[in-house]
Amino acid sequence: MAAGLFGPIKPIEASQREAGHSLRPTLSWPHLVALGVGAIVGTGIYTLTGVGAERAGPAVILAFAIAGAVCACAALAYAELATLIPASGSAYTYTYSVLGETLAWIVGWSLILEYSLACSGVAVGWSGYLVGLLESTGVHLPHWLLGGPHAGGIINLPAVLVSVGIAAMLMAGTRESATVNILLVVIKLAALAVFVVVVMPSFNSANLDPFMPYGFGSHMQGGEKRGVMAAAAIVFFAFYGFDAVATSAEETRNPKRDLTIGIVGSMALSTTIYILVAVAAVGAVSYTTLGGSPEPLALALRALGHPVVSWVVASAALVALPSVILVMMYGQSRIFFAMARDGLLPRRLSSVSKRTGTPVFVTGITCLFVSLIAAFFDVGEIAALANAGTLLAFISVGVCLMVLRRRAPEMPRVFRCPAPYLIGSLAVLGCIYLLVSLPSSTLIRFLIWNAIGLVVYFVYSRARSMVGMDRPAVEA
Ligand code: ALA
Repeated sequence: MAAGLFGPIKPIEASQREAGHSLRPTLSWPHLVALGVGAIVGTGIYTLTGVGAERAGPAVILAFAIAGAVCACAALAYAELATLIPASGSAYTYTYSVLGETLAWIVGWSLILEYSLACSGVAVGWSGYLVGLLESTGVHLPHWLLGGPHAGGIINLPAVLVSVGIAAMLMAGTRESATVNILLVVIKLAALAVFVVVVMPSFNSANLDPFMPYGFGSHMQGGEKRGVMAAAAIVFFAFYGFDAVATSAEETRNPKRDLTIGIVGSMALSTTIYILVAVAAVGAVSYTTLGGSPEPLALALRALGHPVVSWVVASAALVALPSVILVMMYGQSRIFFAMARDGLLPRRLSSVSKRTGTPVFVTGITCLFVSLIAAFFDVGEIAALANAGTLLAFISVGVCLMVLRRRAPEMPRVFRCPAPYLIGSLAVLGCIYLLVSLPSSTLIRFLIWNAIGLVVYFVYSRARSMVGMDRPAVEA
């Protein structure tokens, strides 16, 4: 057994061998691009554009560009590692094979936060659009059912219902879910295209002045962290999700080709769309109008006198946002799957239903966690904490890319990240800068989450680690 500074190291060959076991290989690259865009384009652009505008003013455009650039570097690192190690678990698995078990555990524990909270955040964002749409059509449901205590209610029932519905789809089978996902992605993109086309003629450069009313660096102002970086740290939520593609590696027919196209393609497409939408939104409507709205795109359209288009875009968001939950929940169950297979979580979590070929049990557990968070918390807080988990995983991926290039330069790589040390460093430093730009309360919660994780690791997981006991997780 190889061991590094951070515990046992799982041989890359072992991870490669595991690919192809248990889960059925049913997906190819069009599914993956749809899966990627399905995960990437969601509440980040539909809802958090308003939060970003509140924190950075019109420079929310810059915030999107910065977060996108950092994510693009991370995406390139992911693409190289995902094709080299096409096994379930993404950043967790790479860290296990490169840096060691303890760090891999922390990354896996952070990924649980990323995927679950991303699902919860999108569910709450979806609920916001639903409430807006119902109220604009004169339907008023009891307030206490439509939001958690933060919104003066008791439980966010719509957010719970959408989470449960998506979990049921995933349990029914990956192939079917991915096909439905393609349809939802098309609707979601069409709505954003309609938004840009309808709003762009109202572009007025006066709306971009002042461009950076709160300056660049993240700082406290008016009880909130503001500035371009504070906004970037939040709208970062809009970009991740492409890593969910990497977690589906074991279910792709031709992992090397499909993953490269899936990750890089979905990332490039989403970034282009965001910049267009952000320029249209803050160019046509004052950032003070958009700031903090739970449905900024629908609001912008109404403010410009397009109530019918506003209704159409909001409806499309409602139909399509669940695709993000679908992909993130899918990724979450695969992280549990990978960690359980390695013995770090109970093995029951890696069981696959004989009938559907999907991990039904673990999807149920994920659904429970997602629903509980969605029922009682605020979307901004959820997104910030999800970002913290994601940023940590991305930092690890950047480090793994560089360490592995140095340690095993001769390994055949299907996708080679260009200028790996530059891109890897930009990913790591960019993610660290975004992480420290998050609200302090988020960072404290993140530390608590990881402290709990480390207790679980040292009390339960470490002694049960298959790699630690020098046993292969899957008999070859
Ligand atoms: N990127 C995803 C979204 O914006 C999580 O909803």
